[in-house]
Amino acid sequence: MSQETVINALTQQEWLDKVGDAVQPAIIKTFEAGGKTGQEIKDFLHGVWLGHPLHPVLTDVPVGAWTAAAVLDSLELLGGKKYKAGADAAIAVGLVGAAGSAITGLTDWTGTSGKSRKIGLMHALLNVTATTLYTTSYFLRKQKGSRKTAIGLAMLGYGVASLAAYLGGHLVYGEQIGVDHTATAAEYPEDFIAVLPENELAENTMRCVNAGEVPVLLARKNGEIYAIAHTCSHLGGPLSEGDLLDDGNVRCPWHGSVFSLQDGSVVDGPATAPQPKFEVRVNNGQIEVRLLKNV
Ligand code: FES
Repeated sequence: MSQETVINALTQQEWLDKVGDAVQPAIIKTFEAGGKTGQEIKDFLHGVWLGHPLHPVLTDVPVGAWTAAAVLDSLELLGGKKYKAGADAAIAVGLVGAAGSAITGLTDWTGTSGKSRKIGLMHALLNVTATTLYTTSYFLRKQKGSRKTAIGLAMLGYGVASLAAYLGGHLVYGEQIGVDHTATAAEYPEDFIAVLPENELAENTMRCVNAGEVPVLLARKNGEIYAIAHTCSHLGGPLSEGDLLDDGNVRCPWHGSVFSLQDGSVVDGPATAPQPKFEVRVNNGQIEVRLLKNV
């Protein structure tokens, strides 16, 4: 069965939309109910502090630990009793990592929609199944006479976790979830390039202009002109259709990421990567921009 067949079959599952419709708003509302603290927790779980999504960092823990457990369990089945304690410890480490992966993954999932949301939900359900199998395996390992069943459940868990990891990989490489959407093959201008007559950018307004091949957000606030990349680093939202905030930041219209116009940095997630920032000058009545290299 080809990858395309698997993904297409998955995205035709309407029940995934029904579950998503029920669960996703509930998670969003829970964070919103926490006010500023809720936003800070959400930003932490997205990885704003890291400048990179936190979820893929944590998923390495269960994948690595459970791979080690599968090897050690296999050696035990071949007669190596000394590998027992190592396998049990690896399963416990994997369970701790799975908890961290689940909470960060669920937080990132709140920003998905359509096909990505369905694939993300199936990825999560498979991981919950794998974690349940490993948890059962862990406790059975403590009981006499259940060792082989426990190892069997762990092996089954490893297969399910591998399927989940496959879908996780597709979410990143196929659906571009978690990648920096300002990274583009288009050339960012290194020399000043005229983008708009200065008198066409009113105070307290934003415009999308093109600097060569790159869409740029121009904003005028308190008499200053600012320019950052127009495409939101999170999932590619159009920043000029968002809100120009009183504190001189801009909020993306799609999932509410807030960026500083001063330096393009992320103020609030879900975005974790900053917006490229442009130097601005006015020359012969034209606003000119070029990429600010140290960002
Ligand atoms: S596209 Fe998601 S916050 Fe901008």
